[in-house]
Order: sequence, then structure tokens, then C-alpha cells
Amino acid sequence: MKLFRQTTQIILCTTIIFLHTSCFNKKTEAIKPAILPAPLSQTIQKGEFSIDNATGISSDKEFTQVADFLKAFIEEGSEIKLKDTSASKIIRFEKDTSIKNKEGYSLKVSPTKITISASSSKGAFYGVQSLRQLLPASFENNTFKENSVQVQALEISDKPQFRYRGMHLDVGRHFFSVDFIKKYIDLMSMLKMNTFHWHLTEDQGWRIEIKKYPKLNEISAYRKETLIGKYSDQPHQFDGKRYGGFYTQEEVKEIVKYASDRQVTVIPEIEMPGHSVAALSAYPELGCTEKPIDVATKWGVFDDIYCTKETTFKFLEDVLDEVMALFPGKYIHIGGDEAPKTRWKTCKNCQRVIKREGLKDEHELQSYFIERMEKYINSKGKQIIGWDEILEGGLAPNATVMSWRGIKGAVTAAKEHHDVILTPGSHCYFDHYQSTREDEPIAIGGFTSLEKVYSFNPIPEELTKEEAKYVLGAQGNVWTEYMKTEDKVEYMAFPRIVALSEVVWSHEKNKGFDNFKNRLEHYLKRLDARDVNYANHLYEVKGKTTFTNGKTQVTLKADSNKKPIKYTTDGSTPTATSTTYSAPISVDKSCVIKAATFDGNNIVSSVFEKEITLHKAVGKKINLDVAPSKKYSKGGNAAIINGIAGSNTRFSDQEWLGFEGADFEITLNLEKPTEINSIATRFNNQNSNWIYAPSQVIISFPETKEILPIGLERSDETIVNFKVSTKVKAQIIKIKVINFGIIPKGNTGAGNKPWTFIDEIIVE
Ligand code: ACM
Ligand code: ZN
Repeated sequence: MKLFRQTTQIILCTTIIFLHTSCFNKKTEAIKPAILPAPLSQTIQKGEFSIDNATGISSDKEFTQVADFLKAFIEEGSEIKLKDTSASKIIRFEKDTSIKNKEGYSLKVSPTKITISASSSKGAFYGVQSLRQLLPASFENNTFKENSVQVQALEISDKPQFRYRGMHLDVGRHFFSVDFIKKYIDLMSMLKMNTFHWHLTEDQGWRIEIKKYPKLNEISAYRKETLIGKYSDQPHQFDGKRYGGFYTQEEVKEIVKYASDRQVTVIPEIEMPGHSVAALSAYPELGCTEKPIDVATKWGVFDDIYCTKETTFKFLEDVLDEVMALFPGKYIHIGGDEAPKTRWKTCKNCQRVIKREGLKDEHELQSYFIERMEKYINSKGKQIIGWDEILEGGLAPNATVMSWRGIKGAVTAAKEHHDVILTPGSHCYFDHYQSTREDEPIAIGGFTSLEKVYSFNPIPEELTKEEAKYVLGAQGNVWTEYMKTEDKVEYMAFPRIVALSEVVWSHEKNKGFDNFKNRLEHYLKRLDARDVNYANHLYEVKGKTTFTNGKTQVTLKADSNKKPIKYTTDGSTPTATSTTYSAPISVDKSCVIKAATFDGNNIVSSVFEKEITLHKAVGKKINLDVAPSKKYSKGGNAAIINGIAGSNTRFSDQEWLGFEGADFEITLNLEKPTEINSIATRFNNQNSNWIYAPSQVIISFPETKEILPIGLERSDETIVNFKVSTKVKAQIIKIKVINFGIIPKGNTGAGNKPWTFIDEIIVE
């Protein structure tokens, strides 16, 4: 088999050589510019520049490394060999001090010259990244087999909107190879992202070699097993396999250098005082109880954190000495998030420190901890970044705040004149779901679509223009509890990182989601060539049901409108010969609509499926005495009488309505007296998410004064079905839903009132 393939290759090569010589002037067409992130200004001009064996490359001395980077990209990506400066047409790197922004550049392509100008190698590098996107995607995997390529003549003048453009990666929950970290950094740099936030220590593993404390690598870097499935799956099950690893200091240096060559700064995060179980497993004397503890095997927030005794500070200072020597950047991230004060409250040492320092409480003790570490780090010429919890109990004088619990932390810190970086869960957590597809791979929760990421404005409205200057930029966070493999990390990070790159680089006037999606489709080919396992939901079919003049219509749409959607209404899977969708589908009887996007004969999306139940309440009037939560009523109140059931797994879709703690009454007006035989609905019952089916549902018909009080049977199922049969003729139906009550002891959220989630109300 292998021999056969080699023979075929030889024949193919001969054919290609033959074609080349016979079509001497064969030219590849210049790529239409679709640069991501969008440049500040771009003017397309007449003509093309041909990069071929007669093209030279030269640079001012400062940009030699960047010019070499471009030379290697062109020569490795194709059959082209560039000449030096003596060539008649050249690619030229020029220093231009009039470009004030160090990351700014100009790129001019004319038929005789390509000029990249910048005032620093950063800008020159970004000029190269833009030029790279004017070359075919096959350069990305070295398969451009020609010896000349055409580049569209144009002029670009560009600079970033924000100076901090970051991506984070948690290597504590799952550990990733050095090669993968490099790939991640390389892919970031292509998008002009300039900061890699490397989350190196966690409860579940310590991932950086510290020579003075070898047990961090012998003990803290490994856990004895890992939780299987979702945290909410009870009882917890484990895989029984030892898991772990760490980066040696030599590997860290290699990665830092690799990043620096791509204008990426690496910020190490050494978590304190929380998320430190792995460290405590090796050095339990640094905890309050000093009791032995295992490296964590499940996810969550743990009570065992560093004690505030002197030995802890000595340990952390020693660790940071080694860390700071490895990372030349200005910032050290010290974590600071999710540190329960449980142990500190009962610890003699910690209470003594509170007294000694005249502190009010354990929050001020956390401030004392962070401020003390900040002083140490500042004394070494570096600055700290911390998660927004470092605001609690008072902010350390020079700290930069990373706002993750929404944007409140950013607003408070900026008003106190501290630098801030925006990473709110709502827009920047790439561990959330990105699609509402039922078969989406497991994620921690939430829903952060590509469009949501794209819509992010890193400057909170609450800030004045002056205060907004403290916003350095934004960052995408990739927490890896549910990302065991490098493929999965890529799936979660891409293409959301592409959207974020435009959020932080591009200027408002150049932003627009439709235009972005068009450029993204081109960029995906580049990611294909780079073997990136990105998620592609651009072709996913989304359906919306509407009622106008008593007619039910289903509108189908995909993010990309470039390829046809085909559909069926008889429950069969659509094929290339099925009806092509062109206008809303009118539904006059209950049916199952299946639809998919096609590229020729091939399905390029998952199959969209919606059952439409044309029951008697569809499209009628609905009134609620209590408003559902804004977050969990995306489809509006009428979503529960639109003929479409909610997701079986995700209560945050368009179809469920969620109520926080309250009892509520739904009034349906069927618009005329109607024979009613049954009323059915479903309640969500995902107890680990604080969602419980109600304790009671009372149905009444004001016209007949009939009341049907129904208790609900308790169930362990995540969805509880409800159906009641009756025989009435009525126009108005009232459905009173009584909240479950108080979450019982031993359950997540015990002592609180749970949520109630209700699905489609089917009246037949
Ligand atoms: C965080 O997500 N705990 C910063
Ligand atoms: Zn203590």
C-alpha cells in the first residue's frame, strides 16, 4: 500500500512539473483581502505584487528577526526562494518613527514593492501577520506548490484599540504539552494578541518546576485520579488513573522565548492564598490545619488555603524569586480569587495576625496577604495582577485588577485609578457552551456564543472618558476542568478567540458581525491548514417560530448565508434533493421539521430538528403575574406557547422560562371558549443547579370556577413531566405554580429557595 502511494506521488510530481513548464505564466489569483482583526484603514489599489524567485527581502537592522520570520514563512510555505537586497522588486521593512503606536504599522503593496513600516519590531511583526493573510491558506501547512504568488496591491495603516490583548490557559486542571502551548501562542500571535496568561498552579496540580521546593514537582504535580463526567452527576465517580505533569524551567524558558519571537508576553499566575491544595499536599505545614491533604481530584473551591503565617510568605517569596527570573515581563499574576475564609476564622496563627496588624476581619487579612506579596514583587521591579476578589478588604496600592465576576470589579478599580483588564464571564469565558446544539461536547455551563463575544465592549459604560483610560484591554479565559485534550481546548477557544481579537484590536468603525463572519469563513481555511480543531457553528441552522394572523411560521437561518439550507417536514433527514429553504415555512399541522446546510451534496452542519405541536394555546395570549428572570426568558414569555419544546439538557435556551424563588401565575387567554381535554408541561429539575420542580401546580378556569389542585410527585429525573386531563370549555386558564420551598440539607444551595423552570404549556 505504502509503495503504491509513493509511486502515485512520483507520477503526480512529474505531471505538476510538466504543467509548470508548459504553462509558464500560470498565476495564482491574488487573495481578496479579508484581514482579521480588521485593520484601522485599508485601501485596495490597482495591480498586484508577485512574490517569486526574483523577489528580494531586506530590512532595517532592528527588524531583521521579523524579516527572517516572514522569509521562513514564505520559503517553507511554498517553492519560492527569496533573494537578498539586490533584487529588482523587494519586500522591504523600514523603521518609521512617525508611527507613534509601538504596535502600529503600515503595509503598502504596489506592483514593484511591498513596504512594511513601523517604529518597533512589534508593529513590524503585525504588518507581517496582515501580509500573511494576503497569501493563500496553503502557505500555512507548506502545501503551496507554486513558485510565485500574487499579492493584492493595497495600503493598510493600522494600530490596536487596546494595549492588553490576552488569552489565558489553565494547565492545572488539565496539563498540555510544550508543543501545544507553542501552537496556542503562535495562533494567538497570528491574531495580534499579545499576552498569554499562563495559569500554572491549581488545587488539582502544580505545573512549574521550582528547584528549591522539589516536592512541588514530585507530589503537587500529580493527582491520584480525576472526576469523571459533570460535577453535577451524583454520586461522583473517578477514573482511578494517576494524572499530572509539570514544565521544567528549561521548557518555560523555551516557551517564553518562543512567545517573545511572536511579540507575546507571558504572564505566569501563581495562585494565592486560594486554589492552593496541590501545594499544601506537598507542604501541609503551610496550611492552617497542617493536616495531610491530597492533591484535589475534583473541581470546585476548597477551604484549605495558605495560612498567613511567616513560613508561607517565605515559601511564596522563594517560589516567586524563581518564577520572576524566568519571566521577563512586567506582570506576575497572584490569583487572589475564590479563597474561602473558613480556615482563617478558626486558625490561631491567622487570628494572631489580624490582631497584630489591627485588621477588621478575614477580608482585610486577605488584603494584608496580597499587599505584602505586592510589596515583595514591586521590590523586584514587577507589578501584580489579581482577580477582582483582591478588591475585597482594600486594594493593594499598585495592583492591576482582572475583572471576571462581571464588570463591577473593573468599574470600582478604574474609579480608584487602578489599571484593569476585562475578562467577564458573560463574554470572555471560553469554557462556556458556544452553541445550543444538544450534541455539543460537555462544558462547564453558561452560554457564550461567537456573536456574544463579538458584541463585547471592554469599556464599561459606567466609566468616564478619563476613567476609561485605566482599561488596558480584555482577555479570553480557558478553564480546563472539562477540556481533557488539546483538541478540546482548540474547540473551545476557536473561533471565539478570533472574535475577541477583533474586539480588542479593531476600532469601532470597522466592527460589524456580518462582515466579521464573512472574513471568518476565509480565516477558517487558514485554521484548517494549521490543523486547528475549531468549532464551526457558522452553518448551524437556527429556527424561530412566529405567529402572525393566526398562522404559524418557522424561519430558518444560519450565521453564514453563503450556503443553502435544505429541509423536510416529514421527519426524514434532509438530502441534497430536499426542498431548499427560501422563505418562512408555514405550518398548518403538527410536524417535525428537519433542516441542514449543504455544500453541494454534503451536509456541513448538524441536522436541526424541531417538533412543532400545534396545540390550542399556540400563539394565544399569555400573561404572568411575576416576571421571569431576564437571563432565563430569552425567547420572551410567549416561548412557552409557541409550539416548541425546550432543550432536554439546557435550561438556558430560548424556550424555557426561569423564575428565581418566586411563586407565579400564568394566565392563558385562548381568545374564544375552547374545549380543553388536557394541559401538559414540563418542569426542569436539575437540583445541582438549584433548580427544582415546583411543589404544587394549581390549574383553574375562572369562567367555570373549576379548580384542579395537583401536587407533583418528587422525582430524581432532571425533567419532570406534568399532565392533567379534564373536560371543560373555557377561554381563560390560570396556572399557579408554587415554588419547591427550601433546598434541603446536604444538597447544593441548601437553605436557599430554588429556581423554577417551566417549558411549553401544551393545551389539547
Ligand atoms: C476565576 O474564574 N475563578 C477567576
Ligand atoms: Zn492560618
